[in-house]
Amino acid sequence: MAEIISRREGEVQILTFNRPTKMNALTREMYAALATGLNEAAADFGVRAVVLSSEGDHFTAGNDIADFLANPPTGQDSDVARFLGSLLEFPKPLIAAVKGNAVGIGTTMLLHCDVVIASPSAKFSMPFASLGLVPEAGSSYLFPLLVGYQRAAKIFFTGESFDAESAQTMGLVASIAADPIGEALELANQIAKNPPQAMINTKALLKASKHDAVSAVMRAEFELFSLALQSDEAMEAFMNFMAKKGNQ
Ligand code: COA
Repeated sequence: MAEIISRREGEVQILTFNRPTKMNALTREMYAALATGLNEAAADFGVRAVVLSSEGDHFTAGNDIADFLANPPTGQDSDVARFLGSLLEFPKPLIAAVKGNAVGIGTTMLLHCDVVIASPSAKFSMPFASLGLVPEAGSSYLFPLLVGYQRAAKIFFTGESFDAESAQTMGLVASIAADPIGEALELANQIAKNPPQAMINTKALLKASKHDAVSAVMRAEFELFSLALQSDEAMEAFMNFMAKKGNQ
């Protein structure tokens, strides 16, 4: 079974993280498949909305740490950078259904989604700095814009997690539902009935004022992130994670 499942239900494309035994940690190949899935959905006139979802109990535990060690993404043409580019440029309504852990890029990708629906058990975190890394996906710009500098700084510096209710108060999540995937599909189908060009134009207007700034910040973050990936601080954090797993 593919680790990213792309399937169509009517006019809605559903992209599902499907690596539940590894808490849907994202590998290079998964980013590549996600970028392809988004690009194809953008180009296909028949697709009116996309839902991002997951198999198992969690959304995603973020970037696969073994992959960070084996294949550190260092170029703007890396699979993760291509995925983030596709996310930034995605022109149609994008809805995320989040349950369980959404770690690292699992949270930062939500800043680009148009509507996020979370289960009551959803848990969000961005432990980049604790791992010797820096925020990515434009989050160093978008997150403080959303929640205010102080709250953003505390969350980035400590790596602390926050729950669905806090995420809703912050404005990261639109609603909380026991069945986030079901709700996301219902919403996507409702949106799919609306005039498609009006949806695309509305999204473009909503995103327009921040687009260029986000793009520039993403590039700058990526430069720092690539350097940080090769730092002693990050190496130590990754080795600690691998050793902890090895000892279990
Ligand atoms: N990369 C690779 N494997 C990961 C992973 C990641 N980011 N996150 C979880 N996994 C794997 C674990 O190794 C484990 O696999 P195993 O059973 O083969 O050992 C499985 O997923 C379940 O994770 P586990 O750590 O046992 O679950 P937990 O409930 O004890 O802890 C987390 C959950 C999310 C707190 C913990 O997995 C974690 O800290 N993961 C790393 C998150 C992270 O730092 N992501 C990168 C952000 S930039």
